[in-house]
Amino acid sequence: MNIDTAAQLNERIKNKSTLEILQFVSHEFGGKIKFASSMGLEDQVITHILAAHKIPVEIFTLDTGRMFYETYELIDKTQARYKMQLKIYFPDAGEVEEMVNSKGINLFYQSIENRKQCCGIRKIKPLKRALKGIDAWITGLRKEQSPTRKDMQIIEWDESNSLIKVNPLLYWTEKQTRDFITEHKIPYNTLHDKGFPSIGCQPCTRAVVQGEDIRSGRWWWENPETKECGLHTKEK
Ligand code: ADX
Ligand code: SF4
Repeated sequence: MNIDTAAQLNERIKNKSTLEILQFVSHEFGGKIKFASSMGLEDQVITHILAAHKIPVEIFTLDTGRMFYETYELIDKTQARYKMQLKIYFPDAGEVEEMVNSKGINLFYQSIENRKQCCGIRKIKPLKRALKGIDAWITGLRKEQSPTRKDMQIIEWDESNSLIKVNPLLYWTEKQTRDFITEHKIPYNTLHDKGFPSIGCQPCTRAVVQGEDIRSGRWWWENPETKECGLHTKEK
């Protein structure tokens, strides 16, 4: 599998609906595809479609150990609503211990390097573990979310993980996402009603005021062009 496979698959899903895309990739990759949910609005839309249509794709979430209480509550509510278990991945305890004991519990505010180290240990390494042995993964990325996401494709080659990456909501707008959540009474993070459009770890996420960019509350002390935790960058 390589960049050409991704381009061919992308051709084959042209004009398909989001549901059809999810059915198509689930069929195409058999048991070798998983969905990464951060429990965000977009992710809840995908979870709902997978569950409502009984599409057999494992759903996992990365618990960094620094999530909001409301996110944990949503994990519980989602499992109860869809009568299923989300697979939860944790960082390596020894690595977290060494990092916080040498650099401080809130090291990420001190430098981009520290922030990337924390994201590396708490998110990227567990992600690599979650993706081991599969051929493709699904995300809830939307183009509108960030300047770093504007050149993405619905199906693309993920160089850093050597996998096919499927972004079925790539062209959805924020309104469309919210309307779908309301229409289907999908459980969502209550922080979304309190000024948090994009939710990650608690110390690295703050509320935004109306009119501000949707991701401006994430790592707000950094430049928008570099603000990716590394889950979705092209670097190896
Ligand atoms: S991030 O890179 O800034 O953290 P964002 O919160 O926008 O990402 O989420 C984009 C997509 O990345 C989500 O829809 C999901 O597929 C994946 N993702 C982000 N955080 C997690 C997480 N903690 N667990 C699983 N998937 C995640
Ligand atoms: Fe660490 Fe913040 Fe990255 Fe979470 S978002 S892993 S707390 S640096």
